Amino acid sequence: MEKLIIKGKKEISGKISISGSKNATLPILAASILAHQVILKNIPLVKDIFTMVELLNFIGLRIKIIKKKNIIKINNNDNNINTLAPYKLVKTMRAGVLVLGSLLTKYGKAKVSLPGGCAIGTRPVDLHLFALKKLGAKIRIKNGYIIAEAKEGLKGNIIKFPSISVGATENALLAATNAEGTTILKNCAIEPEVKDLITFLKKLGLIINLKGRSIIVKQRKIKKSQIVHNVIFDRIELGTYMIASALQVKNNITINKIDPKIIKNEIDILKKIGVKIKLKKTSIIIKKNKKLKKINISTKPYPGFPTDLQAQLMVLLTQANGVSKIREDIFENRFMHVPELKRMGADIEIKNKTAIIKGPTKLTGAEVMATDLRASVSLVLAGLAAENRTTINRIYHLDRGYEFLERKLKSCKAEIERV
Ligand code: EPZ
Repeated sequence: MEKLIIKGKKEISGKISISGSKNATLPILAASILAHQVILKNIPLVKDIFTMVELLNFIGLRIKIIKKKNIIKINNNDNNINTLAPYKLVKTMRAGVLVLGSLLTKYGKAKVSLPGGCAIGTRPVDLHLFALKKLGAKIRIKNGYIIAEAKEGLKGNIIKFPSISVGATENALLAATNAEGTTILKNCAIEPEVKDLITFLKKLGLIINLKGRSIIVKQRKIKKSQIVHNVIFDRIELGTYMIASALQVKNNITINKIDPKIIKNEIDILKKIGVKIKLKKTSIIIKKNKKLKKINISTKPYPGFPTDLQAQLMVLLTQANGVSKIREDIFENRFMHVPELKRMGADIEIKNKTAIIKGPTKLTGAEVMATDLRASVSLVLAGLAAENRTTINRIYHLDRGYEFLERKLKSCKAEIERV
């Protein structure tokens, strides 16, 4: 089992380039089932992407990954398509459930493994199925699989989500592309990754309007021509490196290949804590900060503070003056990083869904264990800020969502080795 060894307290400076978004690429790969010829650029070469590509191959699409150019080429000539997403592929990467909407609306049927839970929660898909049923799908659950049918095709409808879900919004949107007439989805997730999926679907010839939290989709024939799409940058990776810089920057760190407007809210929050941030058109510069100030915050759907940055923010707040509070309002069990951070000296207490962080505390290196993608990167951040050495086990979690993490940090003079 590979592990990461970090020698902490090294001051870092230099440049970091942000990769394409994993959470935009995954639904766009699922949407490629609807298309004929697709070229996706700015793809992050991370484990979840390879798993989704394996799933699309299994379904019968022809895929080519050109690693050195971060490009994926996809062809779907609709020959011997297997409308099945097997357990072995969906269990490791729950976004595999996103092929359900595409398969059902294009081929009239789909058999997709229930994704099952993960470290951060039960991760149900009831909202996905609720929307598909509203579009006229016949859904039954058997032996751990979702068996969906729409023999006469799906019918457009007005669907109001009882709560906001990124995946359910994406699955419903994909299914609506070939539902008869018009579909209006209400109370949708409007994360930048959902908007990037809409941009991609419009290139396929679809007429889609986003108004507030409503998405209006008209049934359209999909273009047969080749579609080229540049995937949006990864705003969570950006937030992660902004926090890494705030913890250990020497002079300054320039983070490029991004659009600061998309993460205005997160930037405002980091500025409020005292992080020195300079915005450019396509990059952000983080300078050495003085004292960091405490803050109280809750994770919220976009444009609120993202749950995917909660663990990383917590590490920063261990170095802020005073008592900060982070309330995790999205997932029921997303504090798995807390016991590990406490072993490194952090003073954190959990009360109901709120973490109470007392700072500043001196962090010291320790042997720790990653549990989920974002918790593992928070241990890397803590390792950068801690005295001595930190060893992080089970770093396969990291490889699911961070492209070239060590390379990017080493290029800024961090001491980090994979063994
Ligand atoms: C997406 O997961 C992201 N994954 C997650 O990122 C992210 O944390 C999450 O959105 C929230 O922003 C991808 O985009 C591939 P949800 P998703 O449906 O779609 C509950 C990462 O680290 N819910 O918005 O699964 C659910 O349990 C990952 O990259 C239902 O109750 O998240 C959660 O409490 C982690 N029923 C809340 O809604 C449903 O049918 C939000 O989940 C669906 C969700």
